Amino acid sequence: MADDTSKKNELPGWYAGGIEHIWRPYAQMKTATPPLPVTGTHGSRIVLSDGRELIDGMASWWTACHGYNHPHIRQAVERQLAAMPHVMFGGLAHEQPLTLAKRLAALLPGDLSRVFFSDSGSVAVEVAMKMAVQYWINRGVKGRHQFVAFKGGYHGDTTGAMAVSDTEDGMHTLFAGLLPQHHVVDLPDSDAHEASLDALLAQRAGDIAAIIVEPLVQGAGGMKFHDAVVLKRLRTLADKYDVLLIFDEIFTGFGRTGTMFACDAAEVVPDIVTLSKALTGGTLGLAATVASRKVFEAFWSDDPKKALMHGPSYMANALACAAANASLDLFEREPRLQQVTAISSALEQGLAPCRGMPGVKDVRVMGAIGVVEMDRIGDLDALRARFVEQGVFVRPFGNVIYLTPAFTIAPADLDALTRIIVTVVRERP
Ligand SMILES: Cc1ncc(COP(=O)(O)O)c(C=O)c1O
Repeated sequence: MADDTSKKNELPGWYAGGIEHIWRPYAQMKTATPPLPVTGTHGSRIVLSDGRELIDGMASWWTACHGYNHPHIRQAVERQLAAMPHVMFGGLAHEQPLTLAKRLAALLPGDLSRVFFSDSGSVAVEVAMKMAVQYWINRGVKGRHQFVAFKGGYHGDTTGAMAVSDTEDGMHTLFAGLLPQHHVVDLPDSDAHEASLDALLAQRAGDIAAIIVEPLVQGAGGMKFHDAVVLKRLRTLADKYDVLLIFDEIFTGFGRTGTMFACDAAEVVPDIVTLSKALTGGTLGLAATVASRKVFEAFWSDDPKKALMHGPSYMANALACAAANASLDLFEREPRLQQVTAISSALEQGLAPCRGMPGVKDVRVMGAIGVVEMDRIGDLDALRARFVEQGVFVRPFGNVIYLTPAFTIAPADLDALTRIIVTVVRERP
């Protein structure tokens, strides 16, 4: 490791011994800056082992929408821990997932009402893809194994999910040879792109199980926004050519774009939706793939071969479902969506000075997502370190610097985050 001995001596004992055995996410292990030692979190703060507190602009990869350690979620998890942390979901049912499934079905639009639980977003996408492919098989339609997905898209790091992400331009390029080929095309964000998707479907719908899209925001692919009309076009084309429509709301779900789900703003109901991230308010890993009645009915049969053959060991984990139920309580009891609206205005105002600065390509805001897109970011690690020096945790990637704060962030903390972004962008060579 590149850090010097004096610094290492200041690190807690658990860090120095353990770090040599950790393989970190998305990091060149030889050259990446060592990770910061964290001893606690609260609200929108990350506490480091040397006592420093960073203002958090990420909400832990967009999960901790109520801030960290919310007492209501913590108490719900503690209560559940005393009763039963986990029991397998095969052949057994218990209160928290059943309550959660009912609540999700009530919150989601249309008849999205059958909930399949899993443990991470990528797996929820795999399940959605299996549901879509088997939907056609169960209906006696052969050969529909392909998906339409979109350039700039990202749906996770597992093999199936990588294959419907942007394999040309995204972080999964290396694995193009491993992955099944799908149709990764332009979003129908113009008449020309709509016409070419229409032409593709006219020709190939017989091979295609579903269209999969991140509604309104392509997150990990570059924080790119599109208009609700794109989703309306997708629904129209999916209906015209009789293919399923999957919305991956793993990032956008639970208020991030300003409405509870992005599909609410677009007034479009997909056939399958995937949820994760903020589902538990950032407390525990949990994901859900929710199917419409039409999809579920294709599996409802006396024939065992028509069952969905999937079942993660930690499916419907009781602690995670308790956290998710508590998170939904908070959405009901506290003005989360109004908070998102306020954050949106603060992000607009706070990031506006970046507009027109040298090296800045675009500044955009949707809901509680604020983005400063640069022409390029040369040294990502150095930029990340600069933010830490300034007392904030902001983690740019690709060519974007962005904020996705907790919805409960104090206005002063949000102001500090945007001010520091403006300062750091201004000082860039
Ligand atoms: C839209 C979307 N889908 C799927 C995933 C994968 O989720 P996970 O990291 O929980 O596997 C992500 C993660 O960033 C995502 O943003």
